[in-house]
Amino acid sequence: MAARLLDGVSVATAIRAEVAPGVAGFTSKRGRPPGLGIVLVGNDPASEVYVASKLKSAGEAGLRADLHRLPAAASLADLMAIVDQLNENDACDGILVQSPLPEAMGVDAERRVFDAVRADKDVDGFHPINVGRLVQNRATLVACTPSGVIELLERSQIPIAGKRAAVIGRSDIVGKPMALLLLHRHATVTVCHSRTANLAHVVSDADIVVAAIGRPGFVTRDFIKPGAVVVDVGTTPVSDRATIERLFPPGSKRREAFERRGQLVVGDVHPDVAEVAGALSPVPGGVGPLTIALLLKNTLLAAQARASV
Ligand code: GUN
Repeated sequence: MAARLLDGVSVATAIRAEVAPGVAGFTSKRGRPPGLGIVLVGNDPASEVYVASKLKSAGEAGLRADLHRLPAAASLADLMAIVDQLNENDACDGILVQSPLPEAMGVDAERRVFDAVRADKDVDGFHPINVGRLVQNRATLVACTPSGVIELLERSQIPIAGKRAAVIGRSDIVGKPMALLLLHRHATVTVCHSRTANLAHVVSDADIVVAAIGRPGFVTRDFIKPGAVVVDVGTTPVSDRATIERLFPPGSKRREAFERRGQLVVGDVHPDVAEVAGALSPVPGGVGPLTIALLLKNTLLAAQARASV
């Protein structure tokens, strides 16, 4: 069986088309576009790519997006000062501090910074108030990647209610909010992680599998019930040839891309899973574009909510 491909690009295009009239309406009514402030600390290559893509998409959507950069050696106080400025700036409706922060900022830097972003500008949905609202199923601003997965499933007519779902990974950014969003849509959800016993066996019971652990090719075909829906959220940059050779046969497109670039962003789902899954959201081409579309939508929602207060 060859899995049906869940096309994140076309779903993202549809969401962006829905956001456009809202952005135009806000701009003409308020005399300014919705504003997004993005903060990038250091030079992590993957973050550079993601942030450039977020800025470009925001501009194309008619938002005003400003990048605030800090060197890798910046202090937490430097970063907090930028967050405070954006919190106070009335033309800034959404704030996104790109994760990960440099390790030198300290183990709890990320949590402290996400806590410092005003909850009504928290377009990442990471603030404890927004997480609490998500737990109670009354959130406006929800983390972009898990929201994107839900949009992908729903707009691809994948039923969620009554289904068994396995989320692999328990991060604050993806795993936990993903589990809650599936639960609110009446799935029976199991959250699996590095300490889960018999992980493959637990996952093989699921109708819907979301993989978000950052381990290239970890989810192999023996994890997957035939016909299950599989969403790959992993995006690990791999430059190790042995890993690439284990996953992609000679002559395959992905192997050739690796040969050209010397590096490849690889998902958590082994390519062989396409032979057993009923539907698959792959990497690349799956969830990535949706994360950005949901960021645009959250920025518009934040702007509209702030304007109506
Ligand atoms: N790094 C990887 N994904 C994300 C995200 O959704 N938001 C932020 N702020 N950083 C990220």
